[in-house]
Amino acid sequence: MASATAAPQMTASPAGAEPAVVWVKKSSRQGCAKVFLRDKNVLERGVLQRVAIIDGVCVEIRRHTREAREGEAGALFVAWGLRVERRVTVREESIEDYFNGLAGTVCPEGLTAQAPFEEDDLRFVLSSESVATLEHAPKVDVASKDKLLTGVFCDKQLVEGLWQAKGRLDALWALPPPPMARSLMNRVARAQLFPHSGEGGSKENGENRAGDKLAELADLTGLLHGVPAGCAFLDLCGGPGAWSQFLLAQRDLSLRGFGLTLRAQVGSERDWHAQEKDEWYPELSKRSDWAALWGKDGSGDLLKPGNLEHACQQLDAERVMLCVADGGFSDDSIPANLLELYFYRLFLGELLMAVRVLQPGGRFVCKLYGSCSQHTAALLYCATRLFDDVSIVKPKTSKATGPERYLAAFGRKTGKEAAQIREALSRAHAFGGASSPLEMPLLTPVVTMANLAADGVFTSSVAAMTSKLCNRNVKALNAVVDRAEFLEEMAKTVNDELCKRSETQTIQCWPKCRDETHEAPEPASALPANFGGEDAAVAVRMSGIDKTATDTDIVEFFAEVQVKTTGVRQFDVPKHNARVDFGSKEDLERALAMNGRNLLRRKVKVELWHELGNEGPTDAVGGARPLKDSSLQKKVERKERPRQSRRAFVGGA
Ligand SMILES: C[S@@+](CC[C@H](N)C(=O)[O-])C[C@H]1O[C@@H](n2cnc3c(N)ncnc32)[C@H](O)[C@@H]1O
Repeated sequence: MASATAAPQMTASPAGAEPAVVWVKKSSRQGCAKVFLRDKNVLERGVLQRVAIIDGVCVEIRRHTREAREGEAGALFVAWGLRVERRVTVREESIEDYFNGLAGTVCPEGLTAQAPFEEDDLRFVLSSESVATLEHAPKVDVASKDKLLTGVFCDKQLVEGLWQAKGRLDALWALPPPPMARSLMNRVARAQLFPHSGEGGSKENGENRAGDKLAELADLTGLLHGVPAGCAFLDLCGGPGAWSQFLLAQRDLSLRGFGLTLRAQVGSERDWHAQEKDEWYPELSKRSDWAALWGKDGSGDLLKPGNLEHACQQLDAERVMLCVADGGFSDDSIPANLLELYFYRLFLGELLMAVRVLQPGGRFVCKLYGSCSQHTAALLYCATRLFDDVSIVKPKTSKATGPERYLAAFGRKTGKEAAQIREALSRAHAFGGASSPLEMPLLTPVVTMANLAADGVFTSSVAAMTSKLCNRNVKALNAVVDRAEFLEEMAKTVNDELCKRSETQTIQCWPKCRDETHEAPEPASALPANFGGEDAAVAVRMSGIDKTATDTDIVEFFAEVQVKTTGVRQFDVPKHNARVDFGSKEDLERALAMNGRNLLRRKVKVELWHELGNEGPTDAVGGARPLKDSSLQKKVERKERPRQSRRAFVGGA
């Protein structure tokens, strides 16, 4: 890959030449701008450069599709997003200066990205030779790294290489600004290297990437070929429902759909909790050809005792030929690198439910996270015994940097062995009882290691698949980190050159005099126009707070955007609510702009303080402590960074 630091040779614009930019039209509501240009070279340079740092903020540059008007070579679309704009203003003047400044400069090297491999759909056939030797007495197992490092299905060095590459990506995320919004570099890097896995959902599939994935999986595997019209499907762990929508959209099949997914806000303290965005789409629930199943306890939790059986009974009269399962939970609730092991019980539940509801010949598609352990391999082994054709598929749209892959198992078998496997899966599922996967993630594998090791056909097919996908994952992660670092470095180098140039030439008023002559436009205020008066609390009500969040977490949440809290009070009633006080109206405004952002695992609501009554301080909330005293506040203050300068090119310093 070409070097990021090659210094561009600078050439001056011809004296008296018109500026490159005709005009800039910014939308503060969306955090973007259109830049209309008369200089074709600057236009093409912007398209190629793809990112820039303007007013200290990382912005993405794309060609604007509008046709050029007289006197224009075309337009660029520059985007940084509303969330960022709420925190730091990117000014029209700075954008104009930036693109005017590019005129006559030489392009840095390396602007065309080179992917480490070509994106492709991957498919691996899995098969086995011998009858499964089942473990009849499941036990609790420890979800520890050695389970992934010592398996025969993936080389230890490859697994460690994967963790190292993930560590690099995490470290990039953790870097503090400047520049602001560095994650944009990451996103652009991924989109440049792996355009299929970097893109969002299509309109037909409800703007949800999951829908694209099932569409692609269906194409790749022939999932829908020969499926009898009018039969039923079960969408397991399917909320919010893009997979159901995709299946119902196959009009020629007139399928009837059923879905089981975890309800938001249910479960005990120790459970993993679904978010509201994971609830079924309202338009699905209104359909007459689709119904949600909620299990015996009404939670929709596949792991809770009785739910699986209850849902199966509701499907007894249905001809279920398809079962699709996309279960998963957010990484941040799982210890680093152990997702595959924490997913074990969910995968087991999904496989069990599929064999319980599918008619003979039925088909099962299920997402997996990695397959390095004996535990996952044992379930894959069961799949090869329960279905005629089994393969693992990774479609192009499945993130190249992620571990996801899909089991596609066609032709559900019947007979004695299938019944015995079902029994063994059922026992293991029941053994988990009401425990959350976060407190009891792993059980001993359902098939003996001796059995797996003795079946050379199976072992070699799983090892080939696991090694190839792991290797690819390592390369993709490292390439994205390298590219993101390159983009940031390149953008900074360009800024340095532009700054140098503006000091030595008089071609522009850049950007120092801008600061003197132009006021930054005021960001839209979330405070009501009539806010004020002596009694007005300079405070917010925060609701939807993660139950594990401490006062410190809340203080740090605001400190992230340089907002200083002067008090935090979490309430017993209503739960998950807090009052947070600030020292100034300016801080209050910035705090309100944090509405809808994630605090730990949950999106929180941040609104102007209003009383609900019945609220008192509590110690019942995990870790809650009054903040008055200062060791805690000091700790936070130490972490605070100086306010972001609003001058251009702070990122280039
Ligand atoms: C990736 S999402 C599924 C997306 C879905 N296929 C779509 O097309 O919109 C994973 C889902 O698994 C659900 N889930 C996680 N654990 C579950 C459990 N124990 N029982 C039921 N659903 C669960 C989550 O709540 C979430 O809705």
